[in-house]
Amino acid sequence: MRLKDKTALIFGAGQAPGETPAVGNGRAVSLLFAREGARVLCVDRHLDSAEETARLIRDEGGEAQAVAADVTSEDEVKAAVEACTDHWGRIDILHNNVGISVEGGDAPVTEITTEAFDKIVAVNLRSMVYACKHTIPVMREQKSGAIVSISSMAAWENYPWVSYKATKSAMIALTQQFAIQNAEYGIRANVILPGLMDTPMAVDRRAEAWGRPRADVAAERDAKIPLLGKMGDAWDVAHASLFLASDEAKFITGVALPVDGGRGLKVG
Ligand SMILES: NC(=O)c1ccc[n+]([C@@H]2O[C@H](COP(=O)([O-])OP(=O)(O)OC[C@H]3O[C@@H](n4cnc5c(N)ncnc54)[C@H](O)[C@@H]3O)[C@@H](O)[C@H]2O)c1
Repeated sequence: MRLKDKTALIFGAGQAPGETPAVGNGRAVSLLFAREGARVLCVDRHLDSAEETARLIRDEGGEAQAVAADVTSEDEVKAAVEACTDHWGRIDILHNNVGISVEGGDAPVTEITTEAFDKIVAVNLRSMVYACKHTIPVMREQKSGAIVSISSMAAWENYPWVSYKATKSAMIALTQQFAIQNAEYGIRANVILPGLMDTPMAVDRRAEAWGRPRADVAAERDAKIPLLGKMGDAWDVAHASLFLASDEAKFITGVALPVDGGRGLKVG
């Protein structure tokens, strides 16, 4: 029970649809936090998907509620933050999971459209600013809090498209800024950089977009991983987040943690 009596607010707690039993990062982290004793507010653009995550938690004996919010709307993010404090009176953990790439129309710099760039910035980055803007005052009042955001190894690697690259890189810079500017209030901010993970959004969506069998896309991703030649999964990301959100990490702030099976080490 590493999160006993803590309250977690998770944006992107639903799950992208997919044909496989693979679980998404948002759902896995919600389930794991609840198993470790946290009360979880599951927030997603798709209320049915957030409700499904909350139901899975309650079926296991945990405590969870679901609310709908599109993270591109400041009013909706603010309302979700207020829903959390209305339910449970505090926010110990803010987890920023929402992120899109190909489905937002991302492209190389010579082909990117204004519309796609602005959309991906709004979903991936502006959302983090809104969530932190409205949660940090609650955490400052409490004199404690942990923020964990999900960036990507795309921030550090030679990634093909510009909007995902720009937004995931900026999430690291903002995490460092929020960490140093809120340390005096006992608020920690850390960011996780997942590499290639076997989630419905990353594999099923790409297979669909490219008109290729899921197994082919998965095998191609597996082949790029040094550790046992296999992609990670959402539970790997969830366990990293559990550590950073827990009191075990009470002296760790401003850190960018790769969860990538060693792929970032493949240079030369
Ligand atoms: N899967 C990977 O290989 C991988 C690698 C690196 C980083 N990531 C990052 O992990 C995070 C989650 O990825 P995942 O593949 O597990 O997906 P996921 O299954 O956790 O899906 C993300 C959730 O966000 C929700 N969402 C999307 N747009 C939203 C909006 N505007 N407002 C509110 N909710 C919205 C979706 O409905 C979905 O439920 C993303 O930030 C992604 O960039 C994933």
